[in-house]
Amino acid sequence: MIRVRAFILSASLSIICATGANAHQGHAAPPWQQSSVWPDRIVVTLPDDPATSFAVTWRTSADVENSVAEIAVATPDARFDLAAESRTAVSEELDLATVKRLGADVPVEWNSMLAPVRFHSVTFDGLEPDTLYAYRVRGADSAWSEWYQVRTAPVDGPISFIYVGDAQNGILSHWARTIRAAFQTAPDARFILHAGDLVNRASRDFEWAEWFKSVGFIHGMIPAMPVAGNHEYDRIGLPEDTTSRILSILWRPQFTLPVEETLHADLRETVYDVRYTKDLHLFVLDTQAGRIDEQAEWLDKALSESDARWRIVSMHHPIFSSGRGRDNADRRQILLPVFLKHNVDLVLQGHDHTYARGLIPQDDTTQTPERIAMGDTDLIKTMFVNSVSGAKQYTFKDDRWDGYTSDGVELKNYAENTQFFQVVRIYGNTLSYTAYTATREIYDSFVMTKGEDAVKTLLEGSGSTIDLRLFESTMPYPGVSDLSAE
Ligand SMILES: [Fe+2]
Repeated sequence: MIRVRAFILSASLSIICATGANAHQGHAAPPWQQSSVWPDRIVVTLPDDPATSFAVTWRTSADVENSVAEIAVATPDARFDLAAESRTAVSEELDLATVKRLGADVPVEWNSMLAPVRFHSVTFDGLEPDTLYAYRVRGADSAWSEWYQVRTAPVDGPISFIYVGDAQNGILSHWARTIRAAFQTAPDARFILHAGDLVNRASRDFEWAEWFKSVGFIHGMIPAMPVAGNHEYDRIGLPEDTTSRILSILWRPQFTLPVEETLHADLRETVYDVRYTKDLHLFVLDTQAGRIDEQAEWLDKALSESDARWRIVSMHHPIFSSGRGRDNADRRQILLPVFLKHNVDLVLQGHDHTYARGLIPQDDTTQTPERIAMGDTDLIKTMFVNSVSGAKQYTFKDDRWDGYTSDGVELKNYAENTQFFQVVRIYGNTLSYTAYTATREIYDSFVMTKGEDAVKTLLEGSGSTIDLRLFESTMPYPGVSDLSAE
């Protein structure tokens, strides 16, 4: 993979601060949305080799034309910064209020009156594995961020990460508590996987402002691994009768992600893989972008070439839907055979605004008399999770257990009307998984152990610390139309 940042070079406007009206309820843009000469929206992401590099992206007003970042090994010394080295940023101006579509300038109504901004990024490389680094980023001269600390990936050894489903609605009002509870529960998480629909309106800057205010300093310290969902796409400036969607104007500027040169340009920076450690390899798909055949082919090849003990796929639209009246049969038909061919261990998804965990068992040929004698009766091929971290909640499929079950998948646990985050831990031949509510109560858990023959044994967790979560047994749910991002 080769890292490439798209440039949009244009004359910048000398505007210190975006102060225009925001489409949200007629209010002016709040101070935490407005860009300035100070860096904000600071987010660390994972480049090609997380053991020796990490990337950071930040925003300023457009008049900050050039920027730099500094990095030092983090030590207990009060002036660790005296050993800092400077790196020049790649800078890209973004016009939030107007977008080029089909050769014409089209207004982005949500962002009208917002001034252009500039995103800056640096990829720190040549670093030592499993080492704590401190970095800071600059806006205008002397306008520095605080020093953030980030640990590079270990070559091998135990690690944990956080996974969340759709934030999407009421991001600041209702999602902030979930992501902050996740950080509180797993502060040593090495990255946070966001499985799509981070916002509701893909190119609406106000919702990204809410997202970044919610995560606060968290993604300055813990890398983000974003997955594109259907709400990361919009149809601004496209003909009325088209079913096409275009990726958020903010996605590529604000996240520095691996670029798969072999893929079509539409899939770059939304379809990628990260080999985090010797044991863990993650693959991210973009189920909204189309070209699912091309993605399946890429994934098949990437999985064939991966010798990682644990292989996890994340994508937005679930292979097995749990929301009432929903299905993604076309995508399932193409992608599921690839997952099963390669015994993908875990598939982390969103979109259905319910919680569901199901599995496809290992076929009978691996269930030998010896295994049965050892008590290894619950052999698993692939585990699938649908989860939701935001406030939008859907009804589970009719006939819950039977409704979810299709193509050989077995439902193991489910919920409605609940915000979740999940912590996954990888330690050697063991993968443990725990789903927590936003109030940090354990709802669901399991442990998978992989034998020398790569066959996985499943041990279900001892159960929830709270009762089954269903609409009929929880507080009334009036919807999300009154929440801030609607
Ligand atoms: Fe979605």
